[in-house]
Amino acid sequence: MRRAWPDTMKIVPSDITPYEKYLSRRTLLAGGLGLAAAAGLSGLTRTAQAQTATGAALTYTHNAEYSVTDPPNSFKDISTYNNYYEFGTDKSDPSENAQKFQTRPWTVVIGGECEAPGTLALDDLLKPHPLEERIYRMRCVEAWSMIVPWVGFPLADLIKRFKPTSKAKYVEFKTLMDPKQMPGERGSVLDWPYTEGLRMDEAMNPLAFMTVGLYGKVLPNQNGAPLRLITPWKYGFKGIKAIVSLRFVERMPVTTWAKSAPSEYGFYANVNPAVDHPRWSQATERHIGSSLFDQRRPTLPFNGYANQVASLYTGMDLKTYF
Ligand code: MTE
Repeated sequence: MRRAWPDTMKIVPSDITPYEKYLSRRTLLAGGLGLAAAAGLSGLTRTAQAQTATGAALTYTHNAEYSVTDPPNSFKDISTYNNYYEFGTDKSDPSENAQKFQTRPWTVVIGGECEAPGTLALDDLLKPHPLEERIYRMRCVEAWSMIVPWVGFPLADLIKRFKPTSKAKYVEFKTLMDPKQMPGERGSVLDWPYTEGLRMDEAMNPLAFMTVGLYGKVLPNQNGAPLRLITPWKYGFKGIKAIVSLRFVERMPVTTWAKSAPSEYGFYANVNPAVDHPRWSQATERHIGSSLFDQRRPTLPFNGYANQVASLYTGMDLKTYF
């Protein structure tokens, strides 16, 4: 059954900014020729944005190795244009409806094929993991993109702690099931609780990030507090929010979107400009935010992270395994 994503992705040729033009515009800005425009962007510095972020401040180091240098989207863009069906299906619903969501106490259950399963209070789960900031390029299957300064720690660090066995081929993640707090879960727009999965080598890739903050502060509820996943080479829907369980499993988990519409959303969900979504092209994307960049530009394979992740899929037909 088709549901959920609005069918607004009709692209006409005039929408498309050729990539060379996009790059040359960036070069012009960097060279100071677009000063007025650049002034608009530099006003959106990370420091200023961090001040408008509302959560408690976090202590972290910036990880330049895993960060892009593009200017991040504003805190406002990132925290008011959201997908979080537990709080409604419109982009503005999560920021309006998630404000009272309780993120403490919070427990995460880790189990399945591992030597050291456990049930941990979130703060104990976080303790051994120093936090870092990574500015990631994000890409939604609906063909829009943003640049987001997340704060978190590598998923691999957490996984190693629980000692998965050789039977662990995938990790399955689940979101809290609490229809009292999450009004969307009282309806059947999706099969609850929201479920996601990664193959073990994907989960161990250094880019896979457990996220607890944004712009240096604790995650806003609408962005997935208190704990969410970010896999920047995949579509945003893999970034499951409000995680309460991780389970190491032998068989590929049935993920929420794949269950909802298997012909539209595959398990791998790798950003692939060469494979159209059944209802829209994936070849280009619209960058949300500053009007300067809020234009279509070509989608990059693996969202620009091919060097780090393409080898995970060697030998796989990515049209079949989408
Ligand atoms: N996680 C849960 N639990 N429920 C959801 O509806 N939506 C996904 C993902 N994680 C979703 C979720 C989708 S479709 C996207 S694009 C991203 O969250 C959006 O993350 P953002 O709102 O922080 O940009």
